Amino acid sequence: MKELQTNNAYISANLIAWDEVAPIHARHNQAELLERICKPGFSALDETATAHLMRLGVYRKNVAQVCCNNGVELLSCKTLGAARCVGFDGAQGFVDQGKELTEAAGTDVEFVCCDAHEIPSEYHSGFDIVMITIGVLSWMPDIDRFFAEIAKLLAPDGVIFVYEQHSILVMFEPGQADDPVNWELSYFRDEAYIDESGLDYYGGESYDATPNASFSHKMSDIVMGGINSSLTLEYFEELPKHISNTWWNVEHSGIGLPMSFVIVFRNSKQN
Ligand SMILES: C[S@@+](CC[C@H](N)C(=O)[O-])C[C@H]1O[C@@H](n2cnc3c(N)ncnc32)[C@H](O)[C@@H]1O
Repeated sequence: MKELQTNNAYISANLIAWDEVAPIHARHNQAELLERICKPGFSALDETATAHLMRLGVYRKNVAQVCCNNGVELLSCKTLGAARCVGFDGAQGFVDQGKELTEAAGTDVEFVCCDAHEIPSEYHSGFDIVMITIGVLSWMPDIDRFFAEIAKLLAPDGVIFVYEQHSILVMFEPGQADDPVNWELSYFRDEAYIDESGLDYYGGESYDATPNASFSHKMSDIVMGGINSSLTLEYFEELPKHISNTWWNVEHSGIGLPMSFVIVFRNSKQN
């Protein structure tokens, strides 16, 4: 019980921290996005995500994105022909940016501001694809609880598509391409990582930031998170591809560490 209360406190603090940085991110990218989003064929998805979404049959499917930020990846699913698209994010500032981009694009992506662990039940069982991309899992204090919650969104035979940075990266101090690769934390660390320098990963702007708490999850915990939610592990691949906007030093080191991964879990239950 105490653990749940602590975890909920971390989640609440994180959502404040994310909402705080939303206008700062917008200053860096919203004007450019508003211009790009109106052009035919807009996509913020890389080749890997696009190929997997096509393979999973995104065309005419209902897609949810949990922790969707400003929704550019979900808007890209519309470009791939998705049907209903709903983005969930706990920071109102990003939800508002997503709505503005959707209006500019003249399309119909919906956004809901809520904690990923408290998605309203009206959305349960409604989606063929639930998408989790780059920079989400590390905000979740309890990975089993997270997967159990988002699994509720799946329609029968629906899939959770996870495309994330590799868990091993948190061991290393992030850096620019020429920086050395220094070992920093244990792969098996299970305490929260508290950061007070803010979340402006676009401009590196410093501001009076609310501390945020992030968590490292072993790859085996992520795999088991889906399995423990009675989902079927359908696909798992570790990739050398660097998809974060940190750890340029690891990418350029030539060490050959895995830098990202794709996991697909399927809801095989006939609910
Ligand atoms: C790094 S972004 C990743 C999103 C997306 N892949 C992107 O590149 O824009 C993380 C997002 O997760 C959201 N978030 C973090 N914790 C959350 C929670 N507990 N519930 C809902 N959203 C959350 C933040 O507001 C933020 O928009």
